[in-house]
This record gives sequence, structure tokens and C-alpha cells, in this order.
Amino acid sequence: MERSDSHILVFPFPTPGHINPMLQFSKRLASMGLRVTLVTTQPNTKPIEEAQSNYPIHIEPISDGFQPGEKAQSVEVYLEKFQKVASQSLAQLVEKLARSKRPIKFIVYDSVMPWALDTAQELGLDGAPFYTQSCAVSAIYYHVSQGMMKIPIEGKTASFPSMPLLGINDLPSFISDMDSYPSLLRLVLGRFSNFRKAKCLLINTFDMLEAEVVKWMGSQWPVKTIGPTIPSMYLDKRLEDDKDYGLSPLNLNVDACITWLDARDIGSVVYVSFGSLASLGEEQMEELAWGLKRSKGYFLWVVRELEEQKLPSNFIENTADKGLVVSWCPQLDVLAHKAVGCFMTHCGWNSTLEALSLGVPMVVMPQWTDQMTNAKFVADVWGVGVRVKASDEKGIVKREEIEECIREAMEGERGKEMKRNAERWKELAKEAATEGGSSDKNIEEFVKEILCS
Ligand code: UDX
Repeated sequence: MERSDSHILVFPFPTPGHINPMLQFSKRLASMGLRVTLVTTQPNTKPIEEAQSNYPIHIEPISDGFQPGEKAQSVEVYLEKFQKVASQSLAQLVEKLARSKRPIKFIVYDSVMPWALDTAQELGLDGAPFYTQSCAVSAIYYHVSQGMMKIPIEGKTASFPSMPLLGINDLPSFISDMDSYPSLLRLVLGRFSNFRKAKCLLINTFDMLEAEVVKWMGSQWPVKTIGPTIPSMYLDKRLEDDKDYGLSPLNLNVDACITWLDARDIGSVVYVSFGSLASLGEEQMEELAWGLKRSKGYFLWVVRELEEQKLPSNFIENTADKGLVVSWCPQLDVLAHKAVGCFMTHCGWNSTLEALSLGVPMVVMPQWTDQMTNAKFVADVWGVGVRVKASDEKGIVKREEIEECIREAMEGERGKEMKRNAERWKELAKEAATEGGSSDKNIEEFVKEILCS
């Protein structure tokens, strides 16, 4: 069978942190000659179409059961309706395409939607889950889902095979604080309900980064590490090439950010972003704002539109000589820019991988979900970051602490060591993703397996 006759359907959970890596993976498959259709909800289709690069993929809108702009009463209600409506729409789409010249041959679905595999298999298709989080985090959820680690955790630490001892604050928040988001805990644990029926597990990481735990996972199931899913032009830092803004909506603020960075000295800017979902409380936002103002460096801060009203009054005007505040930025270009000295991040897995792959030290301020575990590895295992400490029971990180951590990352011996380590991870990430590297070989093998099945 010709590669172009092999039609793969890719189905991410419809939020940017999930769509972004699966979109990049889709482009990679398309670059290898496969036909790829990415399925997502209506509001996401336009930005993806605008983000098309040299390897076009096909986009199929799907309903999540809600009208555009309509808000679900709760996460639980959203997830329940989404599963019901989207699994029906998925089946209809596969059946429609079965009558076309290019029937679907295989489905790559987000691991948090195991029902997509059930739907696919009822229609005679094979599939593989895509894990958008780290291998370590997935292994933790696996242990909990199988009852090998009981929750709530008793004691102050938890031990998992092939991982350093983790403190309670290093565990994913859905586990350390299991009553906070019960429906999301069920969602992440549900990933292991039927995964043994899948062809293999695709994980957005690379072997060297999580060597021990990848080896352990690989001894249990057919795991394929395929990350980092970052366009190769960034790994090579050849920025004169075409840009690929992933899911940055409408390429927002590209010129404004890059022009502003161009005017700054090498390593003089702290880039601050908390991803697409995390929301800081008003008090924390204020401490962060004044912490940035007090630090010596310049700052480029992404404050999403809905968060803007939490900024101290006149902050933007008062700090115009030191900082730029935008509602979204082209993160890969920013991280690849020589003016950026460190990244103050919530440690979402995509942001973490992006910073590691572009050699940028981090100040880590995890908020929820998997970010606590990512922060632990960034600071204590990979040696590329410093983790802020909260000063009180409410978990507020004070401005002095923020200032101090930024200084530590940007200046002095510790900062230099973190930069050296970051440069080493950058090389290893590039090695894994480029021809003949571990992730590259796994993707080749995955495609061959699909073609032969
Ligand atoms: C969420 C979870 O928080 C994360 O931990 C999980 O692994 C995936 O889902 P999110 O919080 O959005 O994701 O963070 P992150 O994983 O870092 O993804 C954000 C993405 O948006 C990154 O790819 C980043 O490059 C992009 N981004 C963010 C921009 O392009 N511009 C911005 O201004 C901010």
C-alpha cells in the first residue's frame, strides 16, 4: 500500500495543551507521506487552518455537544456530554470516510479519551493513545489506577519504580489533593481502562530525558517515545526558516514580541507564562507583578485576556520601560530568542519540553495537575530550574521570593550551571528528534507498523 493511501485520524482532547503536540505529530506523519485528518471542535479549526505549514493536514470539525460560547455547568457535565456527542460524531465520520476513496486506516487518539478506541474498534479499526504528559506522570497515574498506589497517600512521600522519591507536593495535584477535581482524576486514571487493546502507546517525551521510567514502562507495554513534538526548525534554531506557530491564535503579537526582544541584550529578559488554562489568584498575581518589577531583568509576560483585570492598577504603564505584557505570544520564537535568559513557567508539559529543547533555564511555579511533578524533575533531576517556595498556608509566593529565584536563574554560579545543563538537554532533544534519533526511529517504526497492519 502507498503511504498516501494510508489515512490516519488524529483526535486530541480539545484544549491547546493537548491539540498543540498532537497537531505537530500530525504534521510529522503528513511529512512522511501519510494522509492525516485531525478532528477537533469548531472553535479550534480556524487557528489550526491558519497554522498550516508545508505539510497540510485535513481538519474535520466535530461537535462537543455545546453551542459556540455556551459554557458547561461543570467540568463533569462537559466531559459527560463531550464523550456522548463526540463518540457518535467520530463513528459517523469514520463511516462517512469508509465510503470515500480514502477510508481511515488507523486512529491516534488522546489518552484521556479511551472511549475513542472502543468506537474505533467497533468499526474494525486499530488505534494508539497519545500521552500529552510526561512518562513519569503517566506511570504515577497507572500505579494509582491499578490500585498499586493507594490514595489518599499515607505519609509524606511516595515511591514509584524507576523514579526518585517524591514528596506529596511533587505528586500531580489530582492525587495529592484528590477531592479537588474528582472528575479530572477519573479522567486521567481512566486512560488505563482499555490501553492494553491499543497497538502501542505514544508518549511525548524522549528516551534520554526520562531514561529509567521509559525503560520501566517499555518493560510493561509497547511504548514509543516520539517527542519532543517541536518543529525541527526550532530544534536547529534556524530561525530564518519558515515559522510554525502551532496553535498560537491568529499568530497574535508575533511582531510586537520579537521586535521588543530584538532591542534587548542577550539573556536579559525573563519570559513569564502560565499556559492556556492556569489562573492565578488576585493576591498571587500582584506578588508576581511586583516581583518582576523588583528583579533586575526585563520581562515579557503573557497575561491572558481574562486574567488582565487582576493586574495591579497602572502596572503596565508604570513598568513600560522594563516589561511588555501581552495576551498571547509565539512561545517557541520567544524561547528561541537570544534575549531570553530564563522562563518563569507553570511547568505545563509542553512548556517544560519546549524550554528544555531550546536550552532555557526555568523558574518553576507549578499550579495544578501534572505541573508539580514536572517542576520536581526540572529542579532536582534535570538541574535546569529553581522552584519557588510559598511563604504561607494559602500557598502565596511572595514578591521577594520571586525576585530571588529570578536572580538565581539569571545570575551567579547556580544560573550558569542551569544554563550548561539546559544546553545539554537541548542537544539531547535535538538528537532524539532528528534523523536516526530515538524518537525519530520510533516514529518510522510506528508508520511501518501501520502500513503493514
Ligand atoms: C495543560 C496542562 O497544564 C499541562 O500540564 C498538560 O501537560 C497539558 O495541558 P497548558 O496549561 O496550556 O496545558 O500548558 P502547556 O502544556 O505548557 O501548553 C501550553 C502551550 O501553549 C505550549 O505549547 C506553548 O508553547 C503554547 N503557548 C502558551 C503559546 O504558544 N503562547 C503563549 O503565549 C502561551
